[in-house]
Amino acid sequence: MDGPASGEASELGEESTSGEAFESGDPHRARFEANREHWESMVEPVSATDGTAEIESFLAGESALLPVQREELGDVDGARLLDLQCSIGTRTLSWAREGATVTGADISAESVRVARELADEAGLADRAEFVRSNVYDLPDGHDRRYDTVVTNFGVLCWLPDLDRWAAVAAELLEPGGTFYLAEHHPIATALSDDLGTGGEPLSVEHPYFSTDDPVTAPDGSTHKWPHGLGEILTALADAGIRIRFVHEYPFSPIRRSSEMVQDDRGRWRFEGDRDLPLLVTVKGELRSDAPGV
Ligand SMILES: C[S@@+](CC[C@H](N)C(=O)[O-])C[C@H]1O[C@@H](n2cnc3c(N)ncnc32)[C@H](O)[C@@H]1O
Repeated sequence: MDGPASGEASELGEESTSGEAFESGDPHRARFEANREHWESMVEPVSATDGTAEIESFLAGESALLPVQREELGDVDGARLLDLQCSIGTRTLSWAREGATVTGADISAESVRVARELADEAGLADRAEFVRSNVYDLPDGHDRRYDTVVTNFGVLCWLPDLDRWAAVAAELLEPGGTFYLAEHHPIATALSDDLGTGGEPLSVEHPYFSTDDPVTAPDGSTHKWPHGLGEILTALADAGIRIRFVHEYPFSPIRRSSEMVQDDRGRWRFEGDRDLPLLVTVKGELRSDAPGV
């Protein structure tokens, strides 16, 4: 196989998986390694031909994107698009199907392996590259900038420092380039996992505001960092991204509770009047006077 999707080393910090942007001895580096191992173990049994619903539907030609993502980001035909923390790349490759030339980056080698297989299976390898890198290490050693940087669904909780994350996104964008985030709403993330369904009261079970120490799983396998909406938006603004909109929605790309139903646009939502923000999207563009431009 030819082309970057075939598994060749990339120039984008291929082996930088531990958070070299953080000094050696920084406890975050060991936490990144634990998180990486967690994600390797989640993806290891998966392949482009193993028939998971997500993969089957993608290879059958379905877009992995919510309609709201396509509507809000708009035309990406011809754009050079970078997807931060892309996992197995079904959403990254869905942008490629819309005409973008895509790069997906993820800390997990297994995720990148499956993403490359999927690019080949879907006939998109000529427009798709996947690199294994900690998001914080991505700018090291390459000078490429992108028209569009996207990141979505379950990404921010793995990052201890949003100022540095936003600076990475800004550093990888062309001036005037588009930044687009679609993420589980931090309010919903702070609430009880089933969102108070099944007769249980709705309660706050996880921190909303950022904490000095990560929230570590009882078995030590993962370390996560909460981030409130104000922290997310301020980090982006400080990095030089002019925010065009912040949209909050009462639907989710995932089924958080047995009381949620999926509508014909792939959105999981509560029937009736349960009024909770489950998804937040943010769109902006890199200012020409941003730091580092
Ligand atoms: C919930 S998944 C993201 C899903 C994906 N964005 C999508 O839309 O399908 C979280 C991903 O973040 C990756 N990840 C976690 N910490 C990371 C880091 N520091 N740098 C890069 N990737 C990271 C994991 O390997 C995992 O693939």
